[in-house]
Amino acid sequence: MEVYLDNAATTPIAPEVVDAMMPFLKSHFGNPSSTHHYGRKTKSAIETSRKTIAKLLNCSPMEIFFTSGGTEADNMAITGAILQLGVKHIISSEMEHHAVLHSLDFCEKQYGVKVSKVRLDHMGHVDLDHLKELINSTEEKTLVSLMHANNEVGTMIDIHEIGRICKDNGAYFHSDTVQTMGHYTMDLAEMPVDFITGAAHKFHGPKGIGFLFVRKGIHVDGLIHGGAQERSVRAGTENLYGIVGMAKALELCYEDMDGHIAHVQGLKDYMKSKLQLSIPGVEVNGCPVRSLYTVLNVKLPKTQNAGMLLFLLDIDGIACSSGSACSSGSSKVSHVLEALEVDSLSPSIRFSFSRYTTKEEIDYAVERLSHHMILEEEIA
Ligand SMILES: Cc1ncc(COP(=O)(O)O)c(C=O)c1O
Repeated sequence: MEVYLDNAATTPIAPEVVDAMMPFLKSHFGNPSSTHHYGRKTKSAIETSRKTIAKLLNCSPMEIFFTSGGTEADNMAITGAILQLGVKHIISSEMEHHAVLHSLDFCEKQYGVKVSKVRLDHMGHVDLDHLKELINSTEEKTLVSLMHANNEVGTMIDIHEIGRICKDNGAYFHSDTVQTMGHYTMDLAEMPVDFITGAAHKFHGPKGIGFLFVRKGIHVDGLIHGGAQERSVRAGTENLYGIVGMAKALELCYEDMDGHIAHVQGLKDYMKSKLQLSIPGVEVNGCPVRSLYTVLNVKLPKTQNAGMLLFLLDIDGIACSSGSACSSGSSKVSHVLEALEVDSLSPSIRFSFSRYTTKEEIDYAVERLSHHMILEEEIA
């Protein structure tokens, strides 16, 4: 049996998305910058896609900038805040994705900005008093960059509350929403954010395409310089089929958001209780309540073959992860679990679900994992 439980790393592309992209792969090949009818056709598809995304998020199409994915969008917000908005102080957290953390390391060295990390508790909740204290610790222009939901453990911030704190205390607010885009309804008219990000491959769209939302009235330049694409902010011939596919993928998510949430949350709850019944001592990493419904990260009892579990599950046909995609495959402890002080001697596994995941797949995964844990006990 083939079971894919690594949807936080990437999701399978929806067949409807492939259908929407196909004409642009097969026949409509014009360069969107060309003024003849080939170009006008593809330019129009890009602008229609931008309008679709903007309508779903209740913002203006002018506030959406297409990028190569979540990483570029995060980098663009951070670099733009420094270079165009004059930000000198950035507040973030130790559990951000490397797309933010490594960008901050770079900007600290390259531009001499000060980077502060807000205190987190063991579940990954932000200490809001500390956040206010950090914002008010300097007169310099400040950017707060905190992810909406963590990709490894699923803990979510209260994006409205943090946005209000930033607004009241005069800081810009960027939230990496890569894991929540397409999984929650977002109304940008009332969500107090200056920048948010999306990556199509996390919501059944194609890889290599994403976007940055930039609140009206704020101007940031992109990282890629050249032609006049994306209103001269982000150069390079557009990823036409990616853009069309991303808009279709987001549209599909919004078509049945409630049904999707109910289905996936049900699977997560089911897997959690099944694991707790089958493997005594299992604990949930991150917050059990304010948590992304697509992610279940569990700490298992100590075993001799902790390092082999993912491999054994893979042989059984089950794909899951020990952390984020970029750290799986390496033996390094995840920076997120480290930040939350999760015991690194016990194996932690991240299971992540999608609209295509079934109960039977969960049953199989729990059965195989329990089998490997029991075998381990017997050997010991
Ligand atoms: C929270 C978060 N931010 C950013 C990214 C990077 O997105 P992309 O792979 O589209 O560059 C990811 C992908 O793993 C993610 O989970």
